[in-house]
Amino acid sequence: MSRSGKVSVIGAGFYGSTTALRLAEYDIFETVVLTDVIEGKPEGLAIDMNQSRWIEGFETNLVGQSTGPNGEGYEAIAGSEIVIITAGLPRKPGMSRMDLIETNAKIMRSVAENIAKCAPGAVVINVANPLDEMTALAQLVTGFPYQRVIGQAGMLDTARFTNFVAEKLGVPVSSVKTLTLGSHGDTMVPVASVCSVDGKPLTELLSADEVDDLVTRTRNGGAEIVALLKTGSAYYAPSAAAARMARAVHEDSGVVMPVCAWVDGEYGLSGAYLGVEAELGREGIRRVVETPLTDSEKALLIEAYEAVKAKQADVKDL
Ligand code: LAC
Repeated sequence: MSRSGKVSVIGAGFYGSTTALRLAEYDIFETVVLTDVIEGKPEGLAIDMNQSRWIEGFETNLVGQSTGPNGEGYEAIAGSEIVIITAGLPRKPGMSRMDLIETNAKIMRSVAENIAKCAPGAVVINVANPLDEMTALAQLVTGFPYQRVIGQAGMLDTARFTNFVAEKLGVPVSSVKTLTLGSHGDTMVPVASVCSVDGKPLTELLSADEVDDLVTRTRNGGAEIVALLKTGSAYYAPSAAAARMARAVHEDSGVVMPVCAWVDGEYGLSGAYLGVEAELGREGIRRVVETPLTDSEKALLIEAYEAVKAKQADVKDL
């Protein structure tokens, strides 16, 4: 197995540390760097993860590095081909992702400045919430080209939708195809018209009401878990999604995934970060892929675009 390159994960909470471990277990990177502002936490986690290498059979080296208020320690991410930003607060029960905007914007500004300084060639994958707005802020602060700053949400929302369909019909998840576009929030657009099970349209297998229930549960997928956990938010499925995106970039695979990407004319929409399907490669987003949508789905996507665009216009003041 040939290993190469360095990927860094900012934030060693559950989301960040699980992402770092997933990336290391792929065994395709030379190094995975994990950072956090809590002194000793990333160092301790990296030692623990490295000690699992012999049992799990991977060689990627994990490096933990605490960072200080003035960017001390960020030199550890130098030369990263990919930086995943997980730093930020998760929701508490009853909160919307948007309630996090001010606190997480402060954290994002400092993280993004340090990434621009120490890893200026990296592709940035943001997972901090509110997702679409924090991705826009990461691009603004780093000044990186739009295609090199991406947000993770569509893979997660699609994975949730897929799982709900598989459970409802009692079929393997591998036989189910679903898709979500739009925002990672109230204006998420689960695209029922392209969903299928073993190639059969979902709309022929479930009633409109049943599909609607799964769509609603998908839209509330994050909040459902936050309410049960009481502290913190989901991280197993989210980290799987972020790690897969990083892998597609590292391998320059051209895989098409639902992600939060800058739209520049696709669907007739421009100038905002929005959940769309896109081809991923070394440069980040190779191109946004336009999925055929029904008129009502297209209308919902435009609604999502208008909502995120309005909010993203404010991020420069945060
Ligand atoms: C969720 C958070 C991570 O959807 O946004 O679970």
